[in-house]
Amino acid sequence: MCGIVGYVGQQAALPVVVEALRRMEYRGYDSAGVAILDGAGEVRVEKRAGKLANLEEALVADGGEAGFVGTTGIGHTRWATHGRPNDRNAHPHVSGDVAIVHNGIIENFAPLRAELESAGVELVSDTDSEVAAHLLTRAIESGGTAGDFVASCRAVLARLEGAFTLVFSHAKHPDVLVAARRSTPLVLGVGQGEMFLGSDVAAFIEHTRDAVELGQDNVVVMRADGYEVTDFDGEPTEGRPFRIDWDLEAAEKGGYDYFMLKEIAEQPQAVADTLLGKFQDGRIVLDEQRISDQELRDIDKVFIIACGSAYHSGLVAKYAIEHWTRLPCEVEIASEFRYRDPVLDRSTLVVAISQSGETADTLEAVRHAKSQKARVLAVCNTNGSQIPREADAVLYTHAGPEIGVASTKAYLAQITANYLVGLALAQARGTKFPDEVAAEFRQLERMPESIQQVVDSLEPVREIARELADSKSVLFLGRHVGYPTALEGALKLKELAYMHAEGFPAGELKHGPIALIEDDLPVFVVMPPVEGRGVLHSKLVSNIQEIKARGARTIVIAEESDEVVKPLSDYFIPIPPSTTLLQPLLATIPYQAFAAEVAAARGYDVDKPRNLAKSVTVE
Ligand code: AGP
Repeated sequence: MCGIVGYVGQQAALPVVVEALRRMEYRGYDSAGVAILDGAGEVRVEKRAGKLANLEEALVADGGEAGFVGTTGIGHTRWATHGRPNDRNAHPHVSGDVAIVHNGIIENFAPLRAELESAGVELVSDTDSEVAAHLLTRAIESGGTAGDFVASCRAVLARLEGAFTLVFSHAKHPDVLVAARRSTPLVLGVGQGEMFLGSDVAAFIEHTRDAVELGQDNVVVMRADGYEVTDFDGEPTEGRPFRIDWDLEAAEKGGYDYFMLKEIAEQPQAVADTLLGKFQDGRIVLDEQRISDQELRDIDKVFIIACGSAYHSGLVAKYAIEHWTRLPCEVEIASEFRYRDPVLDRSTLVVAISQSGETADTLEAVRHAKSQKARVLAVCNTNGSQIPREADAVLYTHAGPEIGVASTKAYLAQITANYLVGLALAQARGTKFPDEVAAEFRQLERMPESIQQVVDSLEPVREIARELADSKSVLFLGRHVGYPTALEGALKLKELAYMHAEGFPAGELKHGPIALIEDDLPVFVVMPPVEGRGVLHSKLVSNIQEIKARGARTIVIAEESDEVVKPLSDYFIPIPPSTTLLQPLLATIPYQAFAAEVAAARGYDVDKPRNLAKSVTVE
């Protein structure tokens, strides 16, 4: 996610804003910028791609504090969603006397952009955010709110759809900032004769510990001596005042002990944001589709390539893609792909899944696929990284920066995006009617609420983890999409707790692994949905009976209503009901929490496990 900061007060705004941006760096970003109002009707903007140092260098070159005089300012660290990371796509975005910064996704930016361009407005960036600046200028200059800065901001907000935090400033109104939030975070810092804005409290914690959390669809009008909160219609409302009792490091982690725990909690938003704007006019839309529907119809095989957790998300996708499109779908470890001389041609669609977009094994596999004339679609979390740049089409996940080395929110966002790829293929090929595609998309849209329920009920899982923290090995079983879920559960435990763990298809037990079962060996089993209690359910019940008979400790993840499996569970972890294909979005979360808690119980660094890097840029 982007980082947003704002300041109105008595101090020189530039150093306050730049220092606040430095406090936002941990969130990950690819460009940064500031806008300072000089109080005499001018606004000075400086923005640069790359690290904050690039921006600071440019500021010094442009006169430093002497060149950016004023006690009101806004700042931004950008995590690119629409438009590559470069100077012109960096924030703040400017329109006349208006400067704005934005975090989130304006879903309806395309029609708004078209409206502005047809009115002769020249947009200089590729971003969705810029439309908000021009809409505000036009609202102030004409229309029912002409001349009224605050009312014009509200009029603009009424036209936006999606998830966004926006801060509006105007050179002719240097004593006030207007900010608004919908589904993305924003907090106020209340100082003595000065006020602060931040995407989180890390932005201003060194100035004040008195904060106000803004609620959904809140607008705040902020001046040095105070603030008022309303809804988007201007009706007065209240934010939630609170006293920050965290230190700075804890503030960056949102009060969690580790970034990974914060990122587990961010998963509902990561899935919701990945879905934003992907279903328009009754159709699935990809971010950058340089493959025509006709070319998608000509596809006769799908190959998914990825590493680690991304690979597991591809294994989950295989079940959906084959079921929805009737196309054969192979999933291959990227580092194996090009050495096996895969059968590829122009009718092969290669889906490359990568959070970082820089994983060398996956990048080299992409290059091999392209050398064989296959078409490549990238599913990636990092705008402007190498893999999407070399792909023919891109679908971005919107998990935001993932600081913890172990993949959590990026993994759930990858599963979500992979389903969108499957639906886009089924839509192009006509193997699903439009209403069926819509129904599947609506089911996905309901998942963040169920994910939130799982995220809110993880304490029992942590208790189990603390009880089993000294185990020597743990096994993970599943069938169908429960099998890749088992692999992901094992990977989390290996990479975080340095514990031996193995995931495998439950049906494989009798072909060897059952010899591993001994007294008290912890074995996780994820059960398919109760609805329709298919053959998978009964076979897994048999598998649980087999391992219990041999002394295993069964830890079962299943729907709360699954009365058949409860008596067989030494530990029962309930999850909300879902469909078979969507269940990995729920069943994976206890595995993430379990592994993190075992690692913490063992005294390991949950965010930075030994020997591991967040992005493996060597083969
Ligand atoms: C998973 O927890 C790991 N961080 C690792 O397996 C990761 O998923 C893999 O290295 C792929 O990274 P990528 O998605 O950035 O390509």
